[in-house]
Amino acid sequence: MKLLLLGSGGREHALAWKIAQSPKIEKLYIAPGNAGTASVGENVNIKADDFAGIRQFVLNNQINMVVVGPEDPLVKGVYDFFKNDEALKNIPVIGPSKQGAVLEGSKDFAKGFMQRHNIPTAAYQTFRADQLEEGLKFLETLKAPYVLKADGLCAGKGVLILDTLEEAKKELKEMLGGMFGDASSSVVIEEFLSGIECSVFVLTDGKSYKILPEAKDYKRIGEHDTGLNTGGMGSVSPVPFATPEWMKKVEDRIIRPTVEGLRAENIDYKGFIFFGLINVAGEPMVIEYNVRMGDPETESVMLRIKSDLVELFEGVAAGNLDEKTLEFDERNAVCVMLVSGGYPEAYEKGFPITGIDEVENSIVFHAGTAVKDGQVVTSGGRVIAVSSYGSNKEEALQQSFSQAQKIQFNKKYFRSDIGKDL
Ligand code: AMP
Ligand code: GLY
Repeated sequence: MKLLLLGSGGREHALAWKIAQSPKIEKLYIAPGNAGTASVGENVNIKADDFAGIRQFVLNNQINMVVVGPEDPLVKGVYDFFKNDEALKNIPVIGPSKQGAVLEGSKDFAKGFMQRHNIPTAAYQTFRADQLEEGLKFLETLKAPYVLKADGLCAGKGVLILDTLEEAKKELKEMLGGMFGDASSSVVIEEFLSGIECSVFVLTDGKSYKILPEAKDYKRIGEHDTGLNTGGMGSVSPVPFATPEWMKKVEDRIIRPTVEGLRAENIDYKGFIFFGLINVAGEPMVIEYNVRMGDPETESVMLRIKSDLVELFEGVAAGNLDEKTLEFDERNAVCVMLVSGGYPEAYEKGFPITGIDEVENSIVFHAGTAVKDGQVVTSGGRVIAVSSYGSNKEEALQQSFSQAQKIQFNKKYFRSDIGKDL
């Protein structure tokens, strides 16, 4: 089959790496891709949200399936765009409908959905711009720290956690006053939950689901979880506290009610669901939903899937996912992200990257790279993920850290404490 993957980050390189291993793949295209995806497929110079461009390409190249990496095209309705087009309607899109993508696109919708289906999550209330006074009063009834979430998509920057009531009130005023534009015209204020986070992923055809290997992401820029939030500095899989007993609670209280809830609400959903969970004294609770795979979780999760991912996608498309098998690789997998100095604040781009060819026994996934005059250069904050297997977590981490030393670019930075808290 000819498959088109949309996106251009480390997640997409890892998905492309796994998809390309399938004997079912005759041709893999990535739009727009990066310097790394070009080594496992063919990059196409079309943006992931350029629906008209994608349409032309799919028709001209007889594409049989489209897999969506990032949330943006999903929230903009790429699934529905295909479904409603006479020439495209029989080409499956792996990713939810626009209505399903609202689980990620609106925090208020996600919270309401969880409330309707009794899915454990932090207590909350939502306030619109004309409800500032009510919002300020609500904050006074809560205990510190205060959690404020812009309702809409803010490229991972829309959540603020404040230590004092004074700061929380000030930020609420700014958010409702347009700090994140339209995305913060509504703000969810919720109870602070204390615990360790874990990312759980499923693939669903809207009726049944398969639970993929779970992973833990490291969001802060600094060692020991200090400093600013980033897109993610590394990941490990499996997660030690995600025992079979804990995962059973996740499945019974969170996964099954979510898939059944989507169905009960007539929401067309054929794709990945990412459950951002927190372990509160042994009980899993939902922090957020995403409607795609995580990045950099995918860079370790893909290593742990033994089965043919494309066959699972076929099950999603045909609605017979329950007949497919999903086998895990029992080894540990980790990913260490190499980032541009300065990230997540201002950083420079365009530095040549050397040493990628010297890496042995690890997998290098490109995140923010480009090719300039035949040379791979940095082109983003998160530049390269070094992923490794190990018979245990320590071995896998040791392998990634040793290979991370070989890859060089000006102002390279990475966290050397990934996985060490577990
Ligand atoms: P989100 O964009 O919803 O994933 O939030 C970003 C990060 O903020 C999460 O990964 C958590 O670390 C933190 N966070 C969000 N909601 C809460 C909460 N209710 N209690 C504690 N931490 C939270
Ligand atoms: N790693 C978190 C995310 O992809 O949103």
